[in-house]
Amino acid sequence: MSIVVTNLTHTYMKGGPFEKTALYNINLKIDDNEFVGIIGPTGSGKSTLVQHFNGLLKPTSGKVYVNGMDTTGSSLKELRKQVGIVFQYPEHQLFEETVYKDIAFGLKKMGLKENEIEERVCNSISSVGLSKDVLHKSPFELSGGQKRRVAIAGILVMNPRILVLDEPAAGLDPRGRDEIYNLIVELHNKKGLTVILVSHSMEDIAKLARRVIVMNEGKIVMDGQVEEVFKNAEKLESIGLSVPQITYLMKKLKAIIPGLNENIFTVDEAKREIVKYLKKAR
Ligand SMILES: Nc1ncnc2c1ncn2[C@@H]1O[C@H](COP(=O)(O)OP(=O)(O)O)[C@@H](O)[C@H]1O
Ligand SMILES: [Mg+2]
Repeated sequence: MSIVVTNLTHTYMKGGPFEKTALYNINLKIDDNEFVGIIGPTGSGKSTLVQHFNGLLKPTSGKVYVNGMDTTGSSLKELRKQVGIVFQYPEHQLFEETVYKDIAFGLKKMGLKENEIEERVCNSISSVGLSKDVLHKSPFELSGGQKRRVAIAGILVMNPRILVLDEPAAGLDPRGRDEIYNLIVELHNKKGLTVILVSHSMEDIAKLARRVIVMNEGKIVMDGQVEEVFKNAEKLESIGLSVPQITYLMKKLKAIIPGLNENIFTVDEAKREIVKYLKKAR
């Protein structure tokens, strides 16, 4: 199971007056069971890139392979069974009169029998941490966080092995964000899903992902483990990004306490580092 991208270029409205090249010669490989963060300024091509992963967009040139299948020429139906994409504000795509019907939508189109549909819908609603009572409600009766879970359930019901989430926490309050992120981590850890998470929050990426891909102006400008990438604060700042706030604090503290490790990217790591220092100092 993997995604392999070779020399991918994507141009919107090619040949027209508004032609826009959004991706230039992208090369990358994402293996089974990775948790990859994709960050970059607005317009850098993140959404365009991930929409190639289930064949929704096709390369203008270059290739995208999903589990060995060339997405050009493969059936969309088959690709969507393998790669599920949760779009930004996915609740905008909830349109049926009940949650059940919304989640069942893709399965109905596959022509499954009603009892199999029911079983899979029930499994998927519980895998996003919602009770079955929700199934008979209208999506419009639900809270923002619940709607987003329902949208994720509608993707999970297809049993994809690779889950792509484009800004899944956008517009949620801090509690809703934590809930969605905890769910994603659980899907990765317990169900072994490969997760590709697009976010503009350095804090969130540092906390969740192991590898991070940085995009700018349609190109990949960095690709490595979170620690390696976030060490390059200047390079990130030069494209309008920043390292997590806690990293700036640790750098300032290091000016006073030379022994401190300044390569710290999450609040938990900072806490451990400071406690370690205090114990030594005593
Ligand atoms: N459907 C589209 N038609 C034309 N241009 C588009 C379309 N979608 C995105 N773009 C352009 O492609 C570039 C990359 O956009 P996008 O992939 O949405 O970036 P990001 O997700 O990083 O914000 C931007 O310049 C954007 O305006
Ligand atoms: Mg986007």
